[in-house]
Amino acid sequence: MDELDGVTIFKIGGGPYTREDLMKMEPVCLRALLRERVHHTIEVEIYPIMLGRKKMPDKFGLQAELIVDVWRQRGFSTEGDDFDWCKRYIALAAEMRAGGKVEVKEVLPAPFTDDEMEVVRRLIWERRSIRDWLPKPVPEEMILNILEAGRAAPTGCNLDIVRFVVIRNTREAKMVWSDIPTPSDECVLIVVCYDARIYPTVGHDKFVPHNILYDCAAAADHMCLMAHALGLGAVWLSCTEKTAKNFQKKFGLPAYIKQALHIAVGWAAAGSIKSLRMPLSDMIIERRKS
Ligand SMILES: Cc1cc2nc3c(=O)[nH]c(=O)nc-3n(C[C@H](O)[C@H](O)[C@H](O)COP(=O)(O)O)c2cc1C
Repeated sequence: MDELDGVTIFKIGGGPYTREDLMKMEPVCLRALLRERVHHTIEVEIYPIMLGRKKMPDKFGLQAELIVDVWRQRGFSTEGDDFDWCKRYIALAAEMRAGGKVEVKEVLPAPFTDDEMEVVRRLIWERRSIRDWLPKPVPEEMILNILEAGRAAPTGCNLDIVRFVVIRNTREAKMVWSDIPTPSDECVLIVVCYDARIYPTVGHDKFVPHNILYDCAAAADHMCLMAHALGLGAVWLSCTEKTAKNFQKKFGLPAYIKQALHIAVGWAAAGSIKSLRMPLSDMIIERRKS
């Protein structure tokens, strides 16, 4: 009997998915479901098992294996960083099921050197919002670097729901700029969107719908930090429901691509006074025992 016979995919807050369901699923949702299943059924389980703190569950890793099997059956390629990551965990789980002793040889977090810390501090404390731009084009390479930083940001359960629309054209930019303070014409807009089909697929829409905006926010923050490191200025821009709807309509995007916010990136026309924060002691809420 094939190990995958009888394996079904658990859906948070819903009925299980069968192989037949997976055969019909939208590819982008299936791929996200794979990452989520690898995350929940292998990644968060495997280290406590390896450390002897937990017993290996029945059919360990097989939900993910079933999804990859279906993916291949449907003729899709398993190339890509996310698949590489999934395959590593699936292979480890298979080795464990076979009774093997597995070891993960990854580096442990180590403190940065003083010089490295200096750079990190500079990045975190010197970044500031820039809203005025020089009429100077931003090289494509820099935009790619910034988008890569957004791609590196964490997303809830590694679902990768965030999508980007890059706008360089002033006429198009006018379609997205919000009614809240907006930059002038010379910047690039990166509209941070999300694919709204993914959360209902994995059941997150019922339990953690707010994570959608956190994912977009994390990507935006990573991108603003990268822009700063590249010597560019950037600013987050809020989007109202009205702007989001306009954006979707005017750009002819499918209804499942939703705008969360956008950032503007460009060459700063002027240095601005860095805003400072309230004291840390006022931000920390301590719960004292009486
Ligand atoms: C969620 C969010 C929404 C923001 N929306 C806008 C906006 O619509 N317009 C704007 O000019 N700045 C916007 N900003 C930038 C903030 O005003 C800015 O980050 C804040 O004043 C702190 O200044 P700093 O970024 O220079 O440290 C936004 C920032 C965040 C985090």
